[in-house]
Order: sequence, then C-alpha cells, then structure tokens
Amino acid sequence: VSAQAWHRAVYAAVCDVIEPWAHGTVARATRYPTYWAFNLVRVEEDPGMTAGELAAFADEALAGLEHRWVALEYGEGSEELRPEFQGLGWETERLVWMRHEADAQPGSDLAVEEVDYGAVEELRVLGHHEDFPDVELRGFLAVEREVAELLGARVLAVRESGAPVAFAELQNIGGSAEIARVYVHPDHRGRGLGTAVTSAAIAAAGDADDLWIVADDEGRAKDLYARLGFTPKWTAIQALRLP
Ligand SMILES: CC(C)(COP(=O)(O)OP(=O)(O)OC[C@H]1O[C@@H](n2cnc3c(N)ncnc32)[C@H](O)[C@@H]1OP(=O)(O)O)[C@@H](O)C(=O)NCCC(=O)NCCS
Repeated sequence: VSAQAWHRAVYAAVCDVIEPWAHGTVARATRYPTYWAFNLVRVEEDPGMTAGELAAFADEALAGLEHRWVALEYGEGSEELRPEFQGLGWETERLVWMRHEADAQPGSDLAVEEVDYGAVEELRVLGHHEDFPDVELRGFLAVEREVAELLGARVLAVRESGAPVAFAELQNIGGSAEIARVYVHPDHRGRGLGTAVTSAAIAAAGDADDLWIVADDEGRAKDLYARLGFTPKWTAIQALRLP
C-alpha cells in the first residue's frame, strides 16, 4: 500500500468519526479526546486559506478539546503556512513516512527481548516529558495503552542491570505494520541501542506486506532508519497547539 493508504488505515482503525469538510476530513476518536494525533483536522488539498483561517476552522471542528491539531497533507505549498502557525504559538513538524524496502541490517551483539507493554512505562514517561516538557501526562498513558493494544502492539527492549533502557514498539493493522515508537534512555544514546531495537522490530514484523516508520523529516533518527533499509515515501506537516 501507499503511505497515504497506510495513514488512512490507521485513522480508520482508531477514529470513530471521520467526516469530510471542504478541503479534507475531520477525524475524531471520541473515546480518546486527549489523544491529539487521533483528533485532528486533515487538510488533503491546498485549501487556499491562511493559518489563521485554518486555526479558526479547527476551533469549530475540535471544539471542546484542549488541543488543536491540523495536518497539512497536500505537499507543495504547505511549507509556506508553517511560519504563520508558529507565529500563532503552534508547534510545527514535518513528518516523513518511510517504508522498509531493503534488508540492510548490520548485525548487533546487543540482546533484545520481547517484553510486556507495561515493562517500559518509565521510558514512556521520559519520552513524553522530552517531547512535551510542559504538558502533564495525567491519564494519558492508559489511553495510549488502550489504543496500542487495539493495534496489536508488541514491545522489543534492551535491559541493563535488569531495567529496560531502550525499546521499539511494533503495531499492525491487517497485513501491514508500523514501528510506532523508538526510544532510548538519554544516558544510553549513541551506543547502538536505537539501532538494535529498531532492527529487532524489523525482524519481529517478519513477512508483513509493508513495514512503515514515521520520523521527523528534519531530525537525526531518519538517518538511522535509512541505514536499516527504510526509504522516504511521503511527507506531511503537523501543526499542533498544545493544551
Ligand atoms: C533516535 C534514538 C532512538 C537513537 O538511539 P541511539 O541508541 O542513540 O541510536 P544508535 O546509537 O543506534 O545510532 C546513532 C544514530 O541515531 C541517530 N540519532 C538521532 N538522535 C540521536 C541522539 N540524540 N543521539 C545519538 N544519535 C542519535 C543518528 O543517526 C545517529 O547516528 P550518527 O551519530 O551517525 O548521526 C534516540 O536518540 C532517542 O530515543 N531519541 C529521542 C526519541 C526519538 O527521537 N525517537 C525517534 C522518533 S522518530
């Protein structure tokens, strides 16, 4: 499948409301209102609107939620809206969908094991605080877990002195899969752990029809994924107004 089709499949699996609007769809997971990525305005064609106008539309479409999320999925021209969103106090990021196409796995001596979902909770908390230092987690870990379980999450981790210090999470829908999370404890980066857990997740995906990973298009993890055989296929810009 294409990256767009995979992206749609993920929304279809988690969101209970997917409604068209003039330039795309509004997707909502009403059971999980604090899960930003599943309660958003998708802009699927050039809307000919300013960021301010899109933000105002998001205020209507996502009324009652604490966050606002607008995904600019039409490529050409979408970059131009970023400075304006940022000026309004929104965070923006360009994401890249990469598909696993080559078996370019360097061997790793590190022992990676499959662990229970809950075994890496401390690392998840660290990861959330790293991404959003000013946002309190409150009940989000339980929400995230429920969605992950819906998507058949499996967790591959490296332990040191018994405690997990790195993990990758594999999710799947139908015959396709995604490495939905890769995280290494800050004190243990740059030693090959990220490579080891990502490689183990690739192996665990086995003969999935497609294996995806979504990365920050302007970040360094993308290079690690490229070395492991992932190829960029599609980009979209996420604009997020934090609660
Ligand atoms: C990205 C991350 C998983 C890499 O783990 P790692 O164990 O440091 O990775 P490895 O040692 O196996 O490989 C190092 C490579 O990872 C990439 N990398 C990305 N961020 C890095 C960081 N903060 N420190 C070190 N390497 C990083 C680089 O490509 C690096 O290679 P380089 O040194 O040649 O540039 C880790 O930095 C992390 O957890 N970051 C925070 C969460 C995150 O960004 N996850 C990815 C979301 S798309």
